[in-house]
Amino acid sequence: MSERKNVTLSAEEVAKQKAIIEQIYQINDAYYRQCGIRKKAFVETYGCQQNVSDSEILAGMLSSMGYELSDSKDEADFVIYNTCAVRENAELKVYGNLGALKHKKAKQPGLVIGVCGCMMQQKEVADTIRRKYKHVDLVFGTHSLYYFPSLLKQVLDDSSRVVDVRDTDGAIAEDYPVVRTGGPCAWVSVMYGCNNFCSYCIVPYVRGRERSRDKDAVLAEIRLLAKDGYKEVTLLGQNVNSYGKDRGDGYDFADLLSDVCKIDGIERIRFMTSHPKDISDKLIDTMAENPKICKQLHLPVQAGNNRVLKVMNRRYTKESYLEKIEKIKKKMPDITLTTDIIVGFPGETKDEFEDTLDVLRKVRYDTIFSFIYSKRAGTPAATMEDVLTSEEKKECFDRLLEVQDEISLEKNEALRGKVMKVLVEGTSKTDENVLSGRTEGGKIVNFEGNSKYIGEFADVEITDVRTWSLIGKIIE
Ligand code: SAH
Ligand code: SF4
Ligand code: F3S
Repeated sequence: MSERKNVTLSAEEVAKQKAIIEQIYQINDAYYRQCGIRKKAFVETYGCQQNVSDSEILAGMLSSMGYELSDSKDEADFVIYNTCAVRENAELKVYGNLGALKHKKAKQPGLVIGVCGCMMQQKEVADTIRRKYKHVDLVFGTHSLYYFPSLLKQVLDDSSRVVDVRDTDGAIAEDYPVVRTGGPCAWVSVMYGCNNFCSYCIVPYVRGRERSRDKDAVLAEIRLLAKDGYKEVTLLGQNVNSYGKDRGDGYDFADLLSDVCKIDGIERIRFMTSHPKDISDKLIDTMAENPKICKQLHLPVQAGNNRVLKVMNRRYTKESYLEKIEKIKKKMPDITLTTDIIVGFPGETKDEFEDTLDVLRKVRYDTIFSFIYSKRAGTPAATMEDVLTSEEKKECFDRLLEVQDEISLEKNEALRGKVMKVLVEGTSKTDENVLSGRTEGGKIVNFEGNSKYIGEFADVEITDVRTWSLIGKIIE
């Protein structure tokens, strides 16, 4: 067994950061006693659930520092953007929003502006911010998240700019404060980083190598969540099926899932993301055997053509992927399946794209998340030549949606008239008189009902369906 690197932040370092949180709290509290209002902090998150989960830790630290968390950046004294680097448009949005803050800072000189996350883990980006966005006070990468208290303190003490982008993979810290926003559902990161190096993807460069959290720490966190009334947990990692491989004690992701199932009070367990090459029979059996594990699987296929899959460095074929899907469907006939697709990967031809459509038709996913390929500097695919023009890529993308929308609607149609158990998360985004929750398969259901159901399970009869959601009537 190889010796395990120390990937957990030392207790002394955690204690040091917590002491700084307390110092900032004292400063903010003094301000509150003097002015009668609390300093406000605004956190905006871009990107995947892992970033959402990191932002919940940022919000936890800020709240413990005595900041009031605000939904409005206009009234905030501290604004922080937790960024994503996965596609160019995610990055452009951040640059645009940071640019707009320049005016706010001109009017409000005491405003502190921070930017962190995956984009900042790229040296060139951090340098651009340093050179061109001089109104930004604090810049740090994903590996520095747990040092946020000391970084912010430096900014507050010296009124100077602080940039912290480190090369070494970030250690995992336990016991940091967390402010969660998912109603009865909680995100729990179980591992960080990715070792897969798909040729188009920036994530391994900005998140570092795979590091798994200690199983006892994960289980302890989930037990606490259950005690606090949470009913659902989603275990997060870029490739959860690799959980534990770096720990070398033989305890794997299926073992972790089985142990989470034993926690009273947690009634639904989800996880993402699984890499098709790593999803094991043991995991499929564990899912099938445990009623608490939702029969829902996000299994990104990316493309359907074997040449393209090889150049993408995905390490499976269309046939082996479809075989896995068949096995999964056989064990769990009602499973909800979702996937990610990239359209217009360099070199992909129209004929090759037909194989992606073929996968869609064969698997019949409930939903897909599709993206037009975006060139990421530093990845192998960035130097590969395109075959299709932008217009042709857009045509392929539209066809993909057309094929999938029909399948999504048909799959939802099959649920009409069924009574489904829905965990009510809150009110609908578009109408606050309507409740919104999710089925076991993760489908959104909107229905009229009393707000006493928020955070609870309700039996809902599906009375109408849309491509992206279901409409129902509560059975009381
Ligand atoms: N670890 C997960 C998620 C990675 S990022 C996984 O392996 O599935 C989420 C999705 O973004 C990917 O699945 C992929 O479909 C998409 N993506 C990643 N890099 C991209 C790029 N350069 N251009 C377009 N889409 C990309
Ligand atoms: Fe990116 Fe591939 Fe890792 Fe997913 S598995 S994060 S797509 S490199
Ligand atoms: Fe984006 Fe970072 Fe997630 S690049 S997709 S926020 S891991």
